[in-house]
Amino acid sequence: MAIDFNEAFRVVLALMNNGVPVPEHFRSELPAIVSHWLHNPIKDPLILGNVEGEKWRRFLSAYGKLNHERFFILKKSAYLTRNGFKVDFTDFPFPPTSKKPKFKFIDLFSGIGGFRIALQSLGGKCVFSCENDPMAKETYFKNFGEYPFGDIRKFTGKGITDQELAEFIPDHDILSAGFPCQPFSKAGVSARNALEKENGFSCRDQGALFYDILRIAKIKRPKVLFLENVRNLERHDGGRTIQKIKNAIECDLGYSFYMEVIDASSVVPQKRERCYMVCFRNKRLKFSFPKINGAPKPLREILEPSPSASYTISKRLWVGHQNRTVRNLSRGVGFTAFKADLNKPANTLVSRYGKDGKECLVPQRGKKPRLLTPRECARLQGFPESFILPQFKLTAYKKFGNSVVVPLVRKIAFKITQKCF
Ligand SMILES: C[S@@+](CC[C@H](N)C(=O)[O-])C[C@H]1O[C@@H](n2cnc3c(N)ncnc32)[C@H](O)[C@@H]1O
Repeated sequence: MAIDFNEAFRVVLALMNNGVPVPEHFRSELPAIVSHWLHNPIKDPLILGNVEGEKWRRFLSAYGKLNHERFFILKKSAYLTRNGFKVDFTDFPFPPTSKKPKFKFIDLFSGIGGFRIALQSLGGKCVFSCENDPMAKETYFKNFGEYPFGDIRKFTGKGITDQELAEFIPDHDILSAGFPCQPFSKAGVSARNALEKENGFSCRDQGALFYDILRIAKIKRPKVLFLENVRNLERHDGGRTIQKIKNAIECDLGYSFYMEVIDASSVVPQKRERCYMVCFRNKRLKFSFPKINGAPKPLREILEPSPSASYTISKRLWVGHQNRTVRNLSRGVGFTAFKADLNKPANTLVSRYGKDGKECLVPQRGKKPRLLTPRECARLQGFPESFILPQFKLTAYKKFGNSVVVPLVRKIAFKITQKCF
């Protein structure tokens, strides 16, 4: 017997809205609390604890008996809980593993779930996710049946004691995080310089979020930290930023620190150099990144056969791109617009791609070039075809531009799991 996830989610939320006390600080997090709980109904809901847990379990069992026909459906991906009910996740393309998990992980700054797809496919179970962009949360929910919690600082900020943090964030083996990169990325740094804003760690909004990761790691002591960031992290502030990260991980935390810049273009048809960091609690474990060195993949491999005409850029935009490219090339600064070579990998997909597509315009015979479609962007990042795309085009471009290359992360994670699990 299995409980349909969507119905269970709806009825528990309705029960909660009937006046169950949720601390003010977490009131907006109810969908996250309930959906996280449905992934592990043996345990008590995060934040709320065992009184609510017992109540929800009793309520769902009783509700199930009353609404037997509609509520219980037997499907494959369900799993059994202490109270004898299973939750059915077959409406979601990436259901949690129904077997005993090989390891548990948390998905911080989850975006649309690139790390999660990779780690789940290796037998991992996600026990906590957080992401503060509402559109990314919606996409994440549609794919995994879980609303990530919002701002990480609700769990790590000044008012939260170590004991509260330890209780709120479940124990886990791998902490995965592609932490916000704008303060370190080349484009981010020059835009911030132009606006005379802070960048790197002094950027209070985003750069400093590394210290939130550090605080979680200090208290929860997972076996592994698996982090990803832009290539420029290595060079930022003359190498001082990466040195600070390394020192914090090695000295404050007492973990080992391995880092490598890897280009994804032999795994997916996109030039994407990223900085990957793997850190072990057990310093005796020796780690080497997988060798990623095949032939670069051609962009044509992932193109849709007949995308809608709406992706073709206007004459005005194309002329504007060309004029600016000529001007910028003569000054040696600024952007240049590229018509892609279909036999080579695409340029790096960035979050602003949807604005005008200048990083990668697909040539078309007898027409102006076109933007990549959201599905093509998903493929450039190695997301499976079953991935449900963000609802709006601009959101899709932004989210895929920020996400990780799933199969590459999987290759690194595979090496990690060989070492540890
Ligand atoms: C580089 S992206 C990570 C993308 C993700 N790895 C993926 O595969 O889709 C960083 C994410 O952190 C989120 N973010 C920024 N500040 C945050 C905060 N304070 N708390 C939670 N998430 C935050 C952003 O919305 C963004 O989606």
